[in-house]
Amino acid sequence: MSAKIIDNHFVKEVYNENEMINYYTDIAHNIGLFKCEKVLFQKYLNFEDKILDIGCGAGRTTIPLYNRGYKDIIGLDIAEEMIKSAKSLCNSIDFVVGDATNLEYDSGTFDKAIFSFNGLMLIPRRESRLKALKEINRVLKTEGYFIFSTPYLDNKLESKFWTSEEIKWQQGDYDRRLYEFGDLLMDDLDIEEIFIHIPKISEVRECLNEAGFEVVEYLPRLNICIEEENIEEQLDDGLFWITKKVGK
Ligand SMILES: C[S@@+](CC[C@H](N)C(=O)[O-])C[C@H]1O[C@@H](n2cnc3c(N)ncnc32)[C@H](O)[C@@H]1O
Repeated sequence: MSAKIIDNHFVKEVYNENEMINYYTDIAHNIGLFKCEKVLFQKYLNFEDKILDIGCGAGRTTIPLYNRGYKDIIGLDIAEEMIKSAKSLCNSIDFVVGDATNLEYDSGTFDKAIFSFNGLMLIPRRESRLKALKEINRVLKTEGYFIFSTPYLDNKLESKFWTSEEIKWQQGDYDRRLYEFGDLLMDDLDIEEIFIHIPKISEVRECLNEAGFEVVEYLPRLNICIEEENIEEQLDDGLFWITKKVGK
C-alpha cells in the first residue's frame, strides 16, 4: 500500500494526472452542463452576477455558463494541468490556479459561488472542508449564494458495502491514512487511489451552519431531472445544495 498522506497535495497530484485531465477535458468539450445544472443555474444565477466556479476542472461548467451570458465568471482549480486545459478550451475566461481552503480574494467579492460534481467532498478532513466553506462564505457578498453537489450516505448505509465499512471502522480495521467514516479511496480511470468523502446529510448541514450558510433548499439530483443515458451512468444519486450566506 502506498504511504502517501491524504491531503490537498495528494488531491492536486491526482487531478494533475493525464487520465484525469483527459476525462475532464473530454466532458468539458463534449458534454458541458448537466440537465439538472441547467435547471438550477437558470433559477439561481443572474447574468450580472460575479461568479466563482470552484474546482472548475477543465471548464465543464465555466465555459457553457460564460457562453450562456454569465460573462463575469472566474474558474478556479487546485490542479495546474486542469487550468491549462481549461484555458486551451476557452481563452476568454479568467481561469486561475487556487485552493478552496485558502482563497486569494477580498471578502465580499462574489455574488455566487459554485463547486460542482461533488468537488467539495474531494477535500480530505472535515476540518479542511469546513475551512473551504468558511473561505467561500468570506469571499461571498451578504446573501450571496453557494451552490454545490455532494453524494450522501443516508441512502447507502443499509447496503452491504457500507454495513461492512461501518463494522470495519468500529473495529479500527480501515486504512489508517483515512480520517472519518465515509472516507473512500477508489480506483477509477486507471488511477489507483482517488479520495472522496461521502457525508451524511446532517454533517453537511452542521458544517454549512458553522460556516455561516443557511440552506435555501437541498434536493436529490433525481428529483430535478434524469440525464441522458450516457451521462446518467457516470453520476451517483447525489444531492444539490442551494445555500445563502447569512450575516456579514
Ligand atoms: C470532480 S472534479 C469536477 C471538475 C469540474 N467541476 C467538472 O464538473 O467537470 C473536482 C475538481 O475539484 C478540484 N479540487 C479538489 N480540491 C480542490 C481545492 N481544495 N481547491 C480547488 N479545487 C479543488 C480538482 O482538482 C478537480 O478538478
